[in-house]
Amino acid sequence: MVFFSSLTPVFIAIICVLIGVILKKNNGERGKHEIKSKPPSRPWVDEDLKDGSDHQVEEEEWQGFDENIAHVPFTAERYSEAEMIKRSQEFYKLLNKRRSVRFLSDEPVPREVIDNVIRTAGTSPSGAHTEPWTFVVVQDPEIKHKIREIVEEEEEINYKKRMGDRWVNDLKRLRTNWIKEYLDTAPYLILIFKQVYGRLPNGKRKTHYYNEISVSIACGILLAALQVLFLLKYSILITMRHVSAGYAQGHV
Ligand SMILES: Cc1cc2nc3c(=O)[nH]c(=O)nc-3n(C[C@H](O)[C@H](O)[C@H](O)COP(=O)(O)O)c2cc1C
Repeated sequence: MVFFSSLTPVFIAIICVLIGVILKKNNGERGKHEIKSKPPSRPWVDEDLKDGSDHQVEEEEWQGFDENIAHVPFTAERYSEAEMIKRSQEFYKLLNKRRSVRFLSDEPVPREVIDNVIRTAGTSPSGAHTEPWTFVVVQDPEIKHKIREIVEEEEEINYKKRMGDRWVNDLKRLRTNWIKEYLDTAPYLILIFKQVYGRLPNGKRKTHYYNEISVSIACGILLAALQVLFLLKYSILITMRHVSAGYAQGHV
């Protein structure tokens, strides 16, 4: 009896060690399972890849490194201090004349000008140089009208349901509504799409880092280019709305 009672602490110690080993094993198994079912979080990429659509999540591939990539020469003009001040003032004055107006001129514009403006927007910096944008120029009156219908339909939902009372109230002083006649009037519509991901030559997905901010910067450069060209002659407005590509394709 004395022999058994002296062994009790040993039994307890052995049982504790066994429980510990079993728990550790179970945790290890669960951990392995979690790693398998849930890919590691990459907030700096994943947040930007969300586009509101529910396309299947596909595996992305490493792009590899192309050693023969062409070298783009860099040249920089140097200006005197006085010249820098003058140029910065002039550029500020020019861009400060930009206004968002809702009545546009239908005066024709050479197509080459539009192409050059888009080329200028395409000089924008982009995350990992992925250039995640598509610019689509629409001139056909029927297609412009269909686009107007889609935008107005979406915008009416924004005003009446989606965006809420505070948004509608904040917009009151701008006196805007969902009717967008200028989408018929403007000689061109430039539709700008962000590419949430690209495709490699082998068909696999290519990650487009910071695609939203890259496209936004390109839009800013596009507006500046339009302002330089159309100053005081034409009115420019970018109507920015999330009309999902799938929805638009189905309608246009
Ligand atoms: C992201 C964004 C979305 C906008 N959406 C609209 C819009 O849907 N309708 C509209 O009439 N103006 C829209 N605007 C234009 C703003 O109302 C305008 O920039 C602002 O009132 C300042 O006026 P300004 O552009 O003449 O300086 C938008 C501007 C931005 C940057």
